[in-house]
Amino acid sequence: MNKSDFWNNVYKSKNFDAVSWYADRLDTSLELIENNCSQKDNSIIDIGSGRSTLVDDLCALGYKKLTLLDVSEEAISQTLRRLGNSPISISTIFGDISKITVQENLYDLWHDRAVFHFLTEESQRNKYVQNLKRSLKKNGIAIIATFGPDGPDKCSGLNTMKYDKTTLHAELGDDFQILGSKIEYHQTPFNTSQQFIYCWFKFNIK
Ligand SMILES: C[S@@+](CC[C@H](N)C(=O)[O-])C[C@H]1O[C@@H](n2cnc3c(N)ncnc32)[C@H](O)[C@@H]1O
Repeated sequence: MNKSDFWNNVYKSKNFDAVSWYADRLDTSLELIENNCSQKDNSIIDIGSGRSTLVDDLCALGYKKLTLLDVSEEAISQTLRRLGNSPISISTIFGDISKITVQENLYDLWHDRAVFHFLTEESQRNKYVQNLKRSLKKNGIAIIATFGPDGPDKCSGLNTMKYDKTTLHAELGDDFQILGSKIEYHQTPFNTSQQFIYCWFKFNIK
């Protein structure tokens, strides 16, 4: 099964709150976005946006230029349906971030919660980082949350990688300055806990 079919199937077969990564509100993501990208007309892309309510909350906070990217059309369709008549038009990109080529120099902020850790092959990670560098503006911010050093080995039956701030920074390279990191314990809907690490970076060259 290809990636798109796999994730479409997850979103067609499981309720909103029946996936391990479900959270009512992505509080840490929102706090980091507000702290690092306070201009409401800055462009933000959410990589592997899934059905997360981040976009609802960013709209409510007044952010005006939002893009959702996901390999699952089903996830994006469900999100757009939920949003209904959104006050702003939301851009969407369907595609595998480790394969497609995104447009250049578009975004002030790149957000990824729980996608990068699925890229188990070096070539996939290289393409992801190429896309990140291509689409982020100079001095843009990347906020990336992956499984932490004590996180799970799998998610949805797929193998996952685990990172700490040093190994995640090494994946992105020296063009990124690390601004901070935070370990977070995510409580799944199944009463288990998963260790995540949030790292945030500034893109220093272009
Ligand atoms: C674990 S979910 C996280 C969803 C959302 N970020 C959240 O925090 O609720 C991973 C999401 O990434 C998407 N995804 C997985 N691999 C991807 C890839 N290579 N390119 C783009 N999206 C991907 C999946 O369809 C899914 O929506």
